[in-house]
Amino acid sequence: MASPTPANSTCDDGVAIAREFRAEPRHAATGRGVVRSFLEECAVRPERIHEVMTAAGEALTNAIEHAYPRSGGGPVMLSIYCCTEHRIIALQVRDRGKMLEGSDTPERRGFGFLIMRALADAISIDTADGTAVTMLFRK
Ligand SMILES: Nc1ncnc2c1ncn2[C@@H]1O[C@H](COP(=O)(O)OP(=O)(O)O)[C@@H](O)[C@H]1O
Ligand SMILES: [Mg+2]
Repeated sequence: MASPTPANSTCDDGVAIAREFRAEPRHAATGRGVVRSFLEECAVRPERIHEVMTAAGEALTNAIEHAYPRSGGGPVMLSIYCCTEHRIIALQVRDRGKMLEGSDTPERRGFGFLIMRALADAISIDTADGTAVTMLFRK
């Protein structure tokens, strides 16, 4: 995951998981479930878990809906990192697809990115190699 910790600091007590799914509609729920159980283990408060799950759900849905042709879903990678020391959660959803033709900016159309922006403390979208959406949340 790209730079999950604040600049100039190290994280000695972080825990992380990474999972990979196929871009199929049912795996939006799979991914949300992974986020929930991981954050519960990290003792994140329930309201925050709900917010992270909502934002993650938008990113997962985008990868599932937009990244690949309907005929065949490629991989969707979910990684989550939780650092107790810095009270930060970093979550990344990545695919190997392409931003849809005509999406000159990824935020042109719907509400998904607006929801992610409203819930995350920081978000970055990298389209150099597939699409990677990285969000930081204060715990
Ligand atoms: N992972 C992705 N791969 C390809 N295109 C994407 C991806 N995520 C978002 N997009 C593009 O960005 C647009 C805006 O996404 P979003 O704000 O979630 O709205 P919506 O999904 O409702 O269209 C999408 O319509 C799509 O064109
Ligand atoms: Mg969307």
